[in-house]
Amino acid sequence: MEWRVPLADLDYSNEEIQAVTDVLRSKWLTMGEITQKFESEFAKMCGAKHAIAVSNATQALHLACLALGIGPGDEVIVPSLSFVATSNAVLYCSAKVKFVDIIDPKELTIDPNAIARSINKNTKAIIIMHYAGFPCRMDDILAVAEEHHLPVIEDAAHAAGSFLDGKGLGTFGEIGCYSFFSNKNLSVGEGGMVVCERDDIAEKIRLMRSHGMTSLTYDRHQGHAFSYDVVVTGYNYRIDEIRSALGLEQLKKLSKNNQKRREITENYWAAFRGYPIGIPFSHLKQDIFSYHIFPILLPSEVNRQEFMIGCRDAGIQTSIHYRPIHTFTNYQTEYGQTWLPITDYAASREVTLPLFPTMTPDQQAYVIDNVIRLVTGK
Ligand SMILES: Cc1ncc(COP(=O)(O)O)c(C=O)c1O
Repeated sequence: MEWRVPLADLDYSNEEIQAVTDVLRSKWLTMGEITQKFESEFAKMCGAKHAIAVSNATQALHLACLALGIGPGDEVIVPSLSFVATSNAVLYCSAKVKFVDIIDPKELTIDPNAIARSINKNTKAIIIMHYAGFPCRMDDILAVAEEHHLPVIEDAAHAAGSFLDGKGLGTFGEIGCYSFFSNKNLSVGEGGMVVCERDDIAEKIRLMRSHGMTSLTYDRHQGHAFSYDVVVTGYNYRIDEIRSALGLEQLKKLSKNNQKRREITENYWAAFRGYPIGIPFSHLKQDIFSYHIFPILLPSEVNRQEFMIGCRDAGIQTSIHYRPIHTFTNYQTEYGQTWLPITDYAASREVTLPLFPTMTPDQQAYVIDNVIRLVTGK
């Protein structure tokens, strides 16, 4: 379908084409020095000691769980209002998920008090997700985690280039995981990054990313190694030079594009004030955030399906973030009914509107007019 205003769009230009062409001409495609540069530039950007590139954030989350020793018999606290990959990573380790509610329909991130109430003797870790790149309540979460000696994994898939008081989201907990999927603020098609401070965790993750092998094909190509040992059970979770080259170009644009997203977000907030439209996160003190998506909450008298059809008929693409994970068949079969009233309420009213840095003022005005028309019926 040809949208008049799509939900998301890439900011790709000649720089990305040139970067990919350069890799193709070099004839070195698997992980090598461009990936190393992407890792070090990304680490610098968010303020992490280690950054390890992988093929997607799902792998990043899986490696994070494995590096923390999560396994059978363990329970991991996870927000249900997230993408299913956040909790699937726990299942890959044969551990159990404990879903926890969000703070409020105006603040769609995990509730620190609910985390505290959910901890038991089997709890092994806490996974949080910075929805749309807005920070979870980090002070409270880290205080609970510290009290119970639990590591925090940050699902920072939405949060590339988000900072809270100067510190990169993804660097507050033990391990941070980012996504570079093609609708993300930094897009390479499929890609991800793990960041951490601890050398031992970084070492484990590097090994597990590539079959548990002690040297890479690149090291052998460089003449730095002639053979390898396999010291842990690993995976092929490597990225490649083409996507790392795209990542480096996209990284250069990230801060400028996140600022553009902020302007568009603030225009939406201003335009919807005074209408019966819930606008999550607008009450927070704004910082350098990534503004990855733009969620609204519809009033109860507006039927969401009809609203989304109305948008579609006007050529405006919308989405839902998210159907809560605890409502999916695969999770209901395992865990039965889960009582998360705030998550269920917010998720039943949420609609995501178009937001991307190349969005024109005309496109945004068109979305705003149509949203107000469909909500008010005028
Ligand atoms: C919150 C969240 N976590 C994890 C993921 C998984 O990322 P990837 O597609 O890179 O595996 C996504 C992707 O959409 C996401 O939005």
